[in-house]
Amino acid sequence: SEAQSEIRKGLVGVVADVSSVSKVMPETNSLTYRGYPVQDLAENCAFEEVAYLLWNGELPNASQLAEFRREEASQRVLTPALLEVIRAFPHDAHPMDAIRTAVSFLGMEDPETADVSEPATRRKAMRLLAKIPTAIAAAHRASKGLDAIAPDPSLTFAENFFHLVFGKVPQPEVVKAFDVSLTLYAEHGFNASTFTARTITSTGADLHGAVVGGIAALKGPLHGGANEAVMHMLSEIGDPSRAVEWLQSRFDHRALVMGFGHRVYKNGDSRVPTMTKYAERMAEVVGDRRWMEMSRLLAAEMLEKKNIHPNLDFPAGPAYHLMGFDIPLFTPIFVASRITGWAAHVIEQAVDNRLIRPLSQYTGAAQRAVPPMSQRG
Ligand code: SDX
Repeated sequence: SEAQSEIRKGLVGVVADVSSVSKVMPETNSLTYRGYPVQDLAENCAFEEVAYLLWNGELPNASQLAEFRREEASQRVLTPALLEVIRAFPHDAHPMDAIRTAVSFLGMEDPETADVSEPATRRKAMRLLAKIPTAIAAAHRASKGLDAIAPDPSLTFAENFFHLVFGKVPQPEVVKAFDVSLTLYAEHGFNASTFTARTITSTGADLHGAVVGGIAALKGPLHGGANEAVMHMLSEIGDPSRAVEWLQSRFDHRALVMGFGHRVYKNGDSRVPTMTKYAERMAEVVGDRRWMEMSRLLAAEMLEKKNIHPNLDFPAGPAYHLMGFDIPLFTPIFVASRITGWAAHVIEQAVDNRLIRPLSQYTGAAQRAVPPMSQRG
């Protein structure tokens, strides 16, 4: 019966459905997208190839990749109406709220918003992949009183992101490190934002609604918001010599240390070694070893004292800082990548849908009669 059924708070360990998008293997600290190890994809493929893989199940050949890139590059421009709305956002708005609102607006503008058929969802996903970076950068620049920069269709996805934010593309090592981060962030099973997107899809609602919900879930500090929190934490520590002492004060206050722990991985996050390698590379390129030195000390101490490993957000935070991005852009960058995983899951959910609707066990007041107003205290 309902009363006797086991409650799994936080759905810990619950297998909610099948999925062929990615496999998270905590026993071996590994992760595959459509069967390919994520570190192999990060090292050997561009993010566009990974997006194609997630959406189509196979890696593209050269002509399929060229066509995918051409299509993505051709859809990057925002309407004047959306650019005007973005300029009207409060300048102190959080960029995650800005991109959430921009995606909601994109839904109202999209010619196929309400069409939840698979072909329409695929076309809408491509438009979102292409337009999300333009909207993130436009909102960020508007918050600083700067004009939006038009996307450049001759640039790759990663190059274009730098162009949109800074008006220039950095040296190839920096672009590669960013591209690697996009691949590592692209997909991760039934994480909170993806499950949110699937729940929204399960009601028959459209892709833009699912992505707006995904963005809202990703903003939280227990999920995607952690990459920003990590950099705030490192800035607060300020110097490697203070790292261990600072950590001890967190332990004394029983406070969370951002960028550590994971619901699924208990012995290390599959994506951390690759991201750490590229974050180290950024430290060399920039000539600032402080953040990675601090990170190394924190990770060693967390492991020794608490037996807790870092998650992807831990190396991604300082990596993005070293690439020159302002902290509030970190979680929006996660959005620009995770749109690929969300869309793959939305398509999978819709193809074999059943409404997601669990039960709760009631613990409130016993049943009682409604008293007349005169008898209420
Ligand atoms: C992402 O799901 C995904 O796949 C997410 C993600 C993705 O790709 O989509 O990987 C991306 O969101 C990474 C996670 C980013 N969040 C953080 O870095 C925030 C800090 N981490 C934690 O709050 C926590 O580890 C979670 C939220 C990530 C996981 O929470 P769980 O599974 O509910 O684990 P828990 O909180 O029950 O922790 C178990 C124990 C607790 O101690 P006890 O009560 O058993 O004594 O470990 C402790 C926790 O207090 N612990 C930490 C800690 N993480 C866990 N203690 C200090 N600092 C931490 N970071």
